[in-house]
Amino acid sequence: MKILIVGSGGREHAIAASAAKSSQVDEIYCAPGNAGIAQIAQCVDIAAMEFDKLADFAEAEDIGLTIIGMDDPLVGGVVDVFEKRGLRVFGPRKNAAVIEGSKAFSKDLMKKYNIPTAAYENFADPDAAIAYLETAKMPIVLKADGLALGKGVLICNTLEEAKAGVKTLMLDKQFGDAGNEIVIEEFMTGREVSVLCYCDGTHIKPMTSAQDHKRARDGDQGLNTGGMGTFSPSPFYTEPVQRFCEEKIYQPTMDAMKAEGRDFVGILFVGLMLTEDGPKVLEYNARFGDPEAQVVLPRMKNDMIDVMNACIDGRLDTVDLQFEDNAAVCVVLASEGYPEQYEKGKRITGFENFENKDGYYVFHAGTKQTDEGIVTNGGRVLGVTAKGKDLKEARANAYEATKLISFENKYMRNDIGKALDEI
Ligand code: AMP
Ligand code: GLY
Repeated sequence: MKILIVGSGGREHAIAASAAKSSQVDEIYCAPGNAGIAQIAQCVDIAAMEFDKLADFAEAEDIGLTIIGMDDPLVGGVVDVFEKRGLRVFGPRKNAAVIEGSKAFSKDLMKKYNIPTAAYENFADPDAAIAYLETAKMPIVLKADGLALGKGVLICNTLEEAKAGVKTLMLDKQFGDAGNEIVIEEFMTGREVSVLCYCDGTHIKPMTSAQDHKRARDGDQGLNTGGMGTFSPSPFYTEPVQRFCEEKIYQPTMDAMKAEGRDFVGILFVGLMLTEDGPKVLEYNARFGDPEAQVVLPRMKNDMIDVMNACIDGRLDTVDLQFEDNAAVCVVLASEGYPEQYEKGKRITGFENFENKDGYYVFHAGTKQTDEGIVTNGGRVLGVTAKGKDLKEARANAYEATKLISFENKYMRNDIGKALDEI
């Protein structure tokens, strides 16, 4: 079978690497892909938001399954376009992807169905938002309703900061229309855990857990980014925590979406905060996390294509999802200056060090093939993943492996998974 993957980041590279292991897959295409994906797939020059062109390609090439990696096309309704044309596709329809596309929708859903989350109010009027803030407890969290590359969340310590935040999101429109409406939410403290789940509309099966490091600098300092590194599994996601989440969060979310006529098929990413009052939902995403996929998928024992097909056909309950009894750590190599200003076009060397190196992966995110070789082409450039028998070994392996790659302006956090030393 031929498959098509839509997207161009490290996550899509990890999806492609998993697909390449499937006995059912003969050829992989990726639109638009990147220089790393091009080593295992044929990259197609169609952008992720060109739905008709993607569907034309899938039809013409007799693609057996299209996997949508990214949030924008899902929220925009690419799955509906494929389904209307009778094309097999993995991902939620537009009416279900809204769980990521609108934070106001997801908060209202959680409130209606008693799914644990931070207390909140939604605002479409900046004056009303400010009036509310005047009486609210600080710190407080402001969130742009729409998609903002994971950056539309402001944690405000003082009333002044919060008021300035309303201006940034709603009046200056730093994240465009994503800020037409905002969610103002209670500030929570605790460990964060990401759990990605396969869903078939009725059944939901969580994968092994992971934790992302969202801030740019060591010690969780600096600006929020798309993610600077991950580890899997999270030792804080204990069995009782998992049981609680299965009973009170995952299945109730599936049931809630079904009750709303929005059956969710695809990957539901549940961002959790483990608070003193128990686990609460920070956010939902409608796709694999990036860079969570880079530590979760390499540890999955099942054939990923089998599991995705079971989701599409509504028989996920027959799948026994299994993960390796080990750990993985991904360290993102970024361009110095990310997520603000950074230079591109720097030559990257050292890829040959990873050839045939079992348990090690270099997932490409922002790279480009040129006549001079592969060069940097984005803020997050590569994700170096290594496995180990436990988190400590995986972490040591991953950091050792980052030394094998060189480029000018290479920047990484040095404390991915460091908190684990405390336990
Ligand atoms: P989100 O995109 O909603 O996951 O938010 C991005 C990051 O902001 C999260 O990973 C948290 O670190 C932080 N965050 C979001 N909501 C809250 C909250 N209610 N309390 C504390 N931190 C939060
Ligand atoms: N790593 C967070 C995300 O993919 O949204």
